[in-house]
Order: sequence, then structure tokens, then C-alpha cells
Amino acid sequence: MKLKKILCALTAAFMAMTILAGCGGEKKEADNKAKNEMKVIRAAGSIDFAPFEFQDETKKEYQGFDMDLIRALGKEMGVKVEISNIAFDGLIPALEAGNIDVIISGMTINDARKKKVLFSDPYYESGLTMVVAANNNNIKAFKDLEGKKVAVQIGTTSAAEVRKIKDVKIVELDTPSICFMELKAGNVDAVVNDRPVNDYFISRGFDGVKSLPDRLTAEDYGIAINKKNPELQKKINAALKKLKENGEYQKIFDKWFSAKREK
Ligand code: ARG
Repeated sequence: MKLKKILCALTAAFMAMTILAGCGGEKKEADNKAKNEMKVIRAAGSIDFAPFEFQDETKKEYQGFDMDLIRALGKEMGVKVEISNIAFDGLIPALEAGNIDVIISGMTINDARKKKVLFSDPYYESGLTMVVAANNNNIKAFKDLEGKKVAVQIGTTSAAEVRKIKDVKIVELDTPSICFMELKAGNVDAVVNDRPVNDYFISRGFDGVKSLPDRLTAEDYGIAINKKNPELQKKINAALKKLKENGEYQKIFDKWFSAKREK
């Protein structure tokens, strides 16, 4: 009787162990598989930054240089790219939380951000310029912004740079378009923002304002990747290199920055 009980208990324990072991093994296998063949890349940008990322009401998909580039990179890597729209200052938190895999959003590579994310190799050379009312003759260079009211997009390198100017009154707004509206309404003296975006905005008929040639910084854009995913960083860099070699990058570049548009 006693022996039977013991045997019973032993068999039960053994069975439980095999089941658990089985489960563990399978789960591990599934994890490895998911890691090795990531079928979808969840990308995000702040879709408010033409010609890099913007919405065109006549088109279903997000438009712009970054959008074409990330889709081409996905194609090269053999993965599907899903793009979502997240406010610029929410992008790095979303990446750190694991809600997205990459950020492509005209994001400047800098040391502060490198503490939180990995960056791909640079994919676009940019910099900051300022925009003022067309009839403003007092502001000609960055030093003239001292004591002035300046609009910037929240969380950007423009915000960080403008904050360094003496006695400046910084107005941090959600998108560059809102900054330009505020300028046009006469509520701020200047907007500081990325040069290609300023130029595009003005070239598309936003009148009454002018972009000044003085360049505050030179900045490189990179794709941001979660710190825990250096394999993805490697894959993106390899794919970017490939697109530069096979002319695909140039094609996308020319589509958005043809000689006649680029200043
Ligand atoms: N290059 C600037 C930065 O990294 C501005 C980027 C803003 N991007 C956007 N999609 N709104 O801070």
C-alpha cells in the first residue's frame, strides 16, 4: 500500500517534470526562432516633418524620404515594415519601452541620445537654420536671437541649441508647422528648425517668411534602434550600405531632393 503510494507520487512527479521540461524547451525554441527571423519591423516617426515624413491626404501611406528609405531597407532585409506616428518627444520612450523596433524621424545622432539608443550609420547630412518674417531686418544671424522669442519643436536639437542663447524666450511647440503658424501670426520672432524642412516649407508656398543662410549646426540623421538589439543595428547598416552601393539610396534622395529643390 505504502509502496504503491510512493510509486504513484514518483510517477506524478516524473510526469510533471517532463511536461515542464517540454514546455521550457519549446518556448526557448520559439524565442530563438522569433529572434532569428523577425518578419516585421515596427518603425515610428513623428509624421510632421516634410520632406522626411508627412501625410499627403491623397495618399494612403506616409510620404517622404525617411518613409521611402525605411521601406527600401525593409525590402533589402526581407522584412515587412510597419510605420506608426508618434509625437517626436515620445519616440525614444516608445523605443525604450519596446513598443517599436526603430525610429526614423529625421533624428539627429548625438551623445545625449546615444546614452539611450543605438544609431545606424548616418544617412543624411542636415543642420539647423532659422526662419523669420520676410520683412524682418533685425535678425540676420543666430547671435541676433538674444532676448528674442523663438519657436522650436519640443524635444529636438533645435530646442537644445536655442536654450543656450542668452536671454532667449523659448516657445516649445508640438510640430514645426505650428511653429511656422506662430511666426506668421507674429507671436514669435523666429523659428529654429532643420534646414531641409525649412527650405521645403518655404518652397511649397508658405509665404511671408524667409529662411536665413546662417547655419547653427551641422547634424547627421540616423535610425535609432533599441540598445538591446545590436544585431538589428548591424543588419540595418549592412542594408544601408547595400542601398548606397546599388543606387537605390540615390534614387530616393533624388526623388525628394532633386537639384532644383535642393538649395
Ligand atoms: N533633427 C532634429 C532632432 O533630431 C529634429 C527632428 C524632428 N523630426 C520630426 N520628425 N519632427 O532633434
